[in-house]
Amino acid sequence: MLLLNGYRGSGKTSVLRKIEALTLAARSDAIVVEIPLRIHSSEDRLLASVVQEVARQLEGRAGAGDRVRAFLSRVHGLSIAGTGVTLGASAASRPTSGLAVWRECIDSLPDGSILLICVDDAELLDTSGLGALKTIAETQGRVPIVLIVAGGVELADRLSQPDTSPIARIFSAGRFDIGELSPSETGEALNAPIRAADLHGGWTTDAIELVHRLSRGYPFLVQCLAHAAFIEGSTVEVSRVQASVPEALEVGGSWLERECASASDEDIRAFAKIADVGRPRLRSSEILSLGIQSPYIGRLVRQKILKKISRGQYELRKAPVIAYYHALARGLRLG
Ligand SMILES: Nc1ncnc2c1ncn2[C@@H]1O[C@H](COP(=O)(O)OP(=O)(O)O)[C@@H](O)[C@H]1O
Ligand SMILES: [Mg+2]
Repeated sequence: MLLLNGYRGSGKTSVLRKIEALTLAARSDAIVVEIPLRIHSSEDRLLASVVQEVARQLEGRAGAGDRVRAFLSRVHGLSIAGTGVTLGASAASRPTSGLAVWRECIDSLPDGSILLICVDDAELLDTSGLGALKTIAETQGRVPIVLIVAGGVELADRLSQPDTSPIARIFSAGRFDIGELSPSETGEALNAPIRAADLHGGWTTDAIELVHRLSRGYPFLVQCLAHAAFIEGSTVEVSRVQASVPEALEVGGSWLERECASASDEDIRAFAKIADVGRPRLRSSEILSLGIQSPYIGRLVRQKILKKISRGQYELRKAPVIAYYHALARGLRLG
């Protein structure tokens, strides 16, 4: 059971997709389900979504055994109480609970298979939804279950509270912070897609360095710059990267422009300094030592960039990439 933590735009969804692809490449019989949460979700809703996705995949599978076919016909048209989820296409018949249908589903999987469940944007789970993660992790069935959960700071917060410690414990074997790319990873991120798509062209070492400096290795901003600067068949140089910054900002703008729109240049500078520390939690003495005066800390809290966790303890709530975007857009020189 793995937990991936990271700010928006840090690459959580991409990591999930990669793990899904690697799993299918290694085991073509694996049942791989991705649950991207879009709304606040309870236990019943999460379990219902998993079963819905498993059933969808089993339906498309040739040579499914009797047990799978029996399961599919039993759950066809079933509605899950309180979730609005209906399995299969036909109208709702008898409502049932998410938990009941989950057990039935697990007992019906083909022998020898493996079930990979990736839950994305898991901060949208409510308390019972978080509990469902434990249910999934502890289910003993015919096939091994691997659960990978990705989420932002709010999820990490929830899982650090005492009432969720039994849930946090299911991830004791693997909890990863997804963050910025190193300079060499930025190079890899720029060059690998060119090779993968069999395109011609590349990036000079200086151009890669500049992309890294402008983006600070934030995957989302690296992608924006790459998208704007790369031309098939040519080698991207420093001047091309510089000239592409406005277009890159436009690409990223639909999300990033709205964030911190009313922040002053000074706010953005302070935000970037805090982001540069590279840790989400800071003591007020550390913030002061960055040259940020205490009235400014209050401003950052009001703008929801920082959150006061306890006396003298603050947490960075917004993705650092937002500070780097605004610094670029406003032409601010950062330290
Ligand atoms: N390792 C990586 N190398 C290059 N680009 C990446 C990498 N990981 C993510 N990206 C890009 O960064 C952007 C944000 O990634 P995403 O997975 O959607 O982040 P999250 O789910 O954490 O918000 C996407 O455009 C994605 O293509
Ligand atoms: Mg995502």
